[in-house]
Amino acid sequence: MKIATKRAVTAASALLLLAGTLTACSTTDNGSGGDGAGDSSKKIALLLPESKTTRYEAYDRPLFEAKVKELCADCEVIYSNADQDAAKQQQQAESALTQGIAVMVLDPVDSSAAASIVNSAKAQDVPVISYDRLINSSDLSFYLSFDNEKVGELQGQAFVDKLAADGNASGDIVMINGSPTDNNATLFKKGAHNIIDASDYKVVAEFDTPDWSPDKAQEWMAGQVTQFGDKLVGVYAANDGTAGGAIAAMKAAGVTPLPPVTGQDAELPAIQRIVAGDQFMTIYKALKLEAETAAQLAVDVVNGTALKGESADTNGVPTTLLNPVVVTLDNIMDTVVKDGFYKVSDICTADYAAACTAAGIK
Ligand code: GAL
Repeated sequence: MKIATKRAVTAASALLLLAGTLTACSTTDNGSGGDGAGDSSKKIALLLPESKTTRYEAYDRPLFEAKVKELCADCEVIYSNADQDAAKQQQQAESALTQGIAVMVLDPVDSSAAASIVNSAKAQDVPVISYDRLINSSDLSFYLSFDNEKVGELQGQAFVDKLAADGNASGDIVMINGSPTDNNATLFKKGAHNIIDASDYKVVAEFDTPDWSPDKAQEWMAGQVTQFGDKLVGVYAANDGTAGGAIAAMKAAGVTPLPPVTGQDAELPAIQRIVAGDQFMTIYKALKLEAETAAQLAVDVVNGTALKGESADTNGVPTTLLNPVVVTLDNIMDTVVKDGFYKVSDICTADYAAACTAAGIK
């Protein structure tokens, strides 16, 4: 009884705390205290595109917020997630601008449509940092991402090397790309084609997955399995969500053994699929570095420090591009575990314990 009461109190305080956090993060207080302008100069908007891919809510957002807090105790982050809806993101951006902000960090749902957000921000002298995905606007203040064409090339190279190593010198493959409104998806696709088109593997069907939706990737893949049966020697999937969909479709149709499937984002279920032998590879992107670099850039704007990119400019916009890394069964320990992204205990749960031991992951 006592324990139950204590738990209830703890849960209630946790909820209150959460409510407090949400209030602090989502509302502005321009009216109280009188000095609305002063408040705005410490407000940072962070707008992320979706929540089906784990990274945004689990890594980008909390890492960004924590770093801002560390660098600028009295800064406030106004956060929104667009749930893959460009119109919703437009409203979220307008709302942040109405509340008054010093800088906007924007990961666009739609790289072209988001140009109008940049116009609105410019009209209010609010600099926009294009986060992870490039916005098609020349009025950006900064572009921070990974080298996305290289992501595609790394996927493509690892893929064709694996197909050859499996004894298939040639054969039919399918490609599941990302969202057609995401500039990154275009770059991943380009990079992957650079490698695959120069190989002896033939792309018999290709799909641009609306909204990066794992469900739509699964549905499409089910159709390909019906059409091509087990003739496919490999499946290029642009990220782990679509890879998961493709693998589910093949398993449901009884395809054995599964052909090599690529991925991206080093999501925990993908790392576990790699351990289990269901997925061949993923791409690890150091999200902590990306989110914390963005936080530093935003606080630089608050402090009036000029932003300087580390890579060559993108259409005249200062740019920093970080380095993506291939992860296969052979280097899980040296990449995601070494970097503290996952603990061995996260990966090697009961279902994966035996496969982990066999792979030397301990
Ligand atoms: C890309 C991003 C990837 C992945 C994907 C799905 O733009 O670079 O990391 O999250 O979107 O949202």
